[in-house]
Amino acid sequence: MELIIRKTTQDAVKLVATIITDAVIEKPNITLGLATGGTMEKLYDKIALMHKEEKIDFSLVKSFNLDEYIGLEPTDKNSYRFYMNHHLFDKINIDKRNTHIPSGVNEDTLEEGEIYEALIEEAGGLDIQLLGIGLTGHIGFNEPLSSFASRTRAKTLAPTTLAQNGPYFGSAEKTPKRAMTMGVGTILDAGMVIMLATGASKADIIAKTVEGPITPMISASALHFHPNCIIVCDEAAAEKLQNKDYYNSIFETDPKWEPYRNI
Ligand code: PGA
Repeated sequence: MELIIRKTTQDAVKLVATIITDAVIEKPNITLGLATGGTMEKLYDKIALMHKEEKIDFSLVKSFNLDEYIGLEPTDKNSYRFYMNHHLFDKINIDKRNTHIPSGVNEDTLEEGEIYEALIEEAGGLDIQLLGIGLTGHIGFNEPLSSFASRTRAKTLAPTTLAQNGPYFGSAEKTPKRAMTMGVGTILDAGMVIMLATGASKADIIAKTVEGPITPMISASALHFHPNCIIVCDEAAAEKLQNKDYYNSIFETDPKWEPYRNI
């Protein structure tokens, strides 16, 4: 795991957007695992801008989103399909037929999980998985006690998550209680994982994820088992880390970060 701390949210977003668009330039038919949430809105704005200004071509890119609320139609404005179209897909030249999000309306959730896993496998696996982090430490909707070996399946959302996402639905009570989500195991199979965490509300969970014990109570701590995982934070989200100087020295020293230090 590598931890990269950037001064502002904007700097953190720009770094992640650059890593992703560089990967798209290098492999035009890349398969991206995508995430949703407030943090990602800024990232998708930046990627859409880079598409426009730098002519980044997404025409051959395939994508798989982490999760979807159970019970929401793709046309529902709170569905993650709606979110992805609105925040990213409608703003870049991706072929929507190559974009995948688990169905929230397949009543057979076991079947839906199997279909989604098969589609990922057919695509040759995920080259890069993008992640946010929830206040429970979830990645996707892998709430506490998710098995580190889990695959795409239905999960019940934790009370903290219902409260975190309640504002989108009017209240925690109105928030869907369950979601389809890639498993921790699905995420760990990606070629590379990039987490973006910004803002002071994430400082506690980032410190626990990075410097605390590996535990199924914090699904994100499973990322220590991934051989190519980067966590990009702004200073506010990195605030409670104990070893910031060490992490900064890696970013300043490793030659692979040279092209990224001044962006
Ligand atoms: P947020 O959500 O970006 O809205 O904080 C992240 C998550 O819950 O994974």
